[in-house]
Amino acid sequence: MKAIILVGGFGTRLRPLTLSVPKPLVDFANKPMILHQIEALKRAGVDHVILAIAYQPGVMMSFLKEYEEKLGIKITCSEEKTPMGTAGPLAIARKLLDDGTGEPFFMLNADVICEYPLREALDYHRSHGGEATILVTKVDEPSKYGVVVFDESTGLVDRFVEKPKEFVGNKINAGIYVLSPSVLDKVQLRPTSIEKEVFPLVAQEDKLRAMVLEGYWMDVGQPKDYLQGLDLYLGGLRARESPLLSRHPAVVGNAVIDESASIGEGCVIGPNACIGKDCVIEDGVCLRNCMVFPGSTIGKHSCVTKSIIGWRSKVGQWARLENMCVFGEDVQCRDELYLNGAVVLPHKEVKVNVAKPEIII
Ligand code: GDD
Ligand code: MG
Repeated sequence: MKAIILVGGFGTRLRPLTLSVPKPLVDFANKPMILHQIEALKRAGVDHVILAIAYQPGVMMSFLKEYEEKLGIKITCSEEKTPMGTAGPLAIARKLLDDGTGEPFFMLNADVICEYPLREALDYHRSHGGEATILVTKVDEPSKYGVVVFDESTGLVDRFVEKPKEFVGNKINAGIYVLSPSVLDKVQLRPTSIEKEVFPLVAQEDKLRAMVLEGYWMDVGQPKDYLQGLDLYLGGLRARESPLLSRHPAVVGNAVIDESASIGEGCVIGPNACIGKDCVIEDGVCLRNCMVFPGSTIGKHSCVTKSIIGWRSKVGQWARLENMCVFGEDVQCRDELYLNGAVVLPHKEVKVNVAKPEIII
């Protein structure tokens, strides 16, 4: 079975992390986002993943080559010369997706996390015989997403409204679809949106169904949501008593710590913290609701709350970071600083306090 993942887009809302790698390669809970998806697709029986790429295809493919072998799954790149939106890539990859057997395929946005009930979605798709199944989830702020108005008893979608200005419902498109190849006949080879141009056509023919996603869901394409997604993901690991959760004595609540990371004496890690490969967490450090990317060091007695520390960065001693600080790659923060919502571009040094949220360039 095949799957297409939309990995285009510039990931501007996740800067400065996306200044170093394309959004799908940004780590999430110690693993590049896209690997969570590729692994889930593999578990659901997918043997060929097509990446629809509009930006830095070389970086993505050289990274994923290793995983093709490790996971035993074929990964192909379908490249766009200019960004083709969320549906145009289907037209480009048409030959790869439609092998003439009528077999449905999965389609995923690259920046969403959930428990991926993909087999259930496929079973549901096969049972209703329509052309497309959208997974939907309930959110508090539907205006940021595509709202799906559907009959709860049959799943039949009545309307699809992308980023509605007025309230039309609170069940939104989770960015995960099962599509039958016949849908490809509705997609033109031009920049076009599956949400605005294709789904409305499928809905008109009563061939679009919604399936409510069980468990958590989050679009982690911006820092605040990324950290909220981390809470949800770790909660999900706890619910199924996953061995990925750390049992280190410094841990409070849910945390994931790579086994190569070193943790000093008297630290408090968590709730909701992730520490990546080769990180050094010195004595007396407190990490709450944050992600420390591989190769970073947090100096003695520093406290990092609600923040993301990018690859190979260094926080000095007795520093305090809070309120959505995001460090790009290789950022240095001097000792004893207080940073409130500091967003720091790669390779910079922070030398003075940041009292109010600010971008350091
Ligand atoms: N290949 C390719 N080409 N991919 C693209 C392009 C493009 O031109 N533009 C966007 N993408 C990819 C993004 O990388 C992302 O994986 C996906 O398409 C969705 O784009 P976003 O920019 O993240 O859209 P969004 O979050 O505002 O809205 C979408 O996702 C929501 C769920 O998170 C929509 O599908 C909404 O309906 C949905 O609710
Ligand atoms: Mg998104």
